[in-house]
Amino acid sequence: MAAEVGEKWVLSVTAQTPTNIAVIKYWGKRDEELILPINDSISVTLDPGHLCTTTSVAVSPAFTHDRIWLNGKEVSLSGGRFQNCFRELRSRATDFEDENRGIKITKKDWEKLHVHIVSYNNFPTAAGLASSAAGLACLVFSLAKLMNVKEDHSKLSAIARQGSGSACRSLYGGFVKWIMGKEDNGSDSIAVQLADEKHWDDLVIIIAVVSSKQKETSSTSGMRDTVETSALIKHRAKEVVPKRIKEMEEAIAKRDFPSFARLACADIHRHEFLRNQGSPPRLDYKDNSQVAYTFDAGPNAVLISKDRKTAALLLQRLLFQFPPQSDTDLNSYVIGDKTILKDAG
Ligand code: DP6
Repeated sequence: MAAEVGEKWVLSVTAQTPTNIAVIKYWGKRDEELILPINDSISVTLDPGHLCTTTSVAVSPAFTHDRIWLNGKEVSLSGGRFQNCFRELRSRATDFEDENRGIKITKKDWEKLHVHIVSYNNFPTAAGLASSAAGLACLVFSLAKLMNVKEDHSKLSAIARQGSGSACRSLYGGFVKWIMGKEDNGSDSIAVQLADEKHWDDLVIIIAVVSSKQKETSSTSGMRDTVETSALIKHRAKEVVPKRIKEMEEAIAKRDFPSFARLACADIHRHEFLRNQGSPPRLDYKDNSQVAYTFDAGPNAVLISKDRKTAALLLQRLLFQFPPQSDTDLNSYVIGDKTILKDAG
């Protein structure tokens, strides 16, 4: 049975995707439309239980246009980024048939079918906690399932990238590298898994949420400003990051915490320096430190501790110094780094 308007069926898929925290940052694009970065980056994908997006996508011949609700509120789907992801996925849809329910959707049907999307973040949205990473990765993953797209995760990562750069890394668990690629069409700008979620499961990540307000400047415009006004960004992208990426890959492979922490801290300092145009924070990481730190695009601190014992002590200190406020001025999330992309569909 072909999908025709007036039929009553609804087909849906639900997926859950965690966010990721970069330890070597993506900051700056060489192509704004395709979202192609000026350097490779490396991240850790978090445990899905704590900071994740859950997205349900549904298709029915009764739907007259595409609609999306984020955290209970309908938002516009007209943005170029959503549309780019939709176009890429629709062009890869394949025939689908559910004989029991009498549903048959052909690739051609997707030219006229519409979807409804409901997406929910279990953490503050746009507060600099990489909500767009989890959100766009989950959207692309669930739509790909719904449209019966038969591409592997690396291809899907190149599609999610066009929704939000950091989203491409959330398609994988564990430690992930986004290879900047060389091609102008972005076909080789994809995410690859460096090590899976079981590789280094001593690490514990604590995120101290000091503000859940939406950030004033988006990462997109922040990095555009940096690329347009900073001479140093080119030096970072060409000279500093390639070496650091290599060292970080080695540190992850060997589970070498002092090197991992030194590189992550050095990267955030250089990154903050560029973002703030010349007011560098002090670098006070010591090789015997048990905790590495980084920030995403907001004020919330991401602390990566060597093991569970250190994490417990750290959390004790944090709770003593900064007791949780009832209005969520400060909450602490404890997160193991092991993670999988859950397909609940
Ligand atoms: C500081 O991926 O949100 O978190 O590609 O413009 O959507 P767009 O930006 P986005 O930027 C993330 C910036 C960062 C660093 C990182 O995740 O690597």
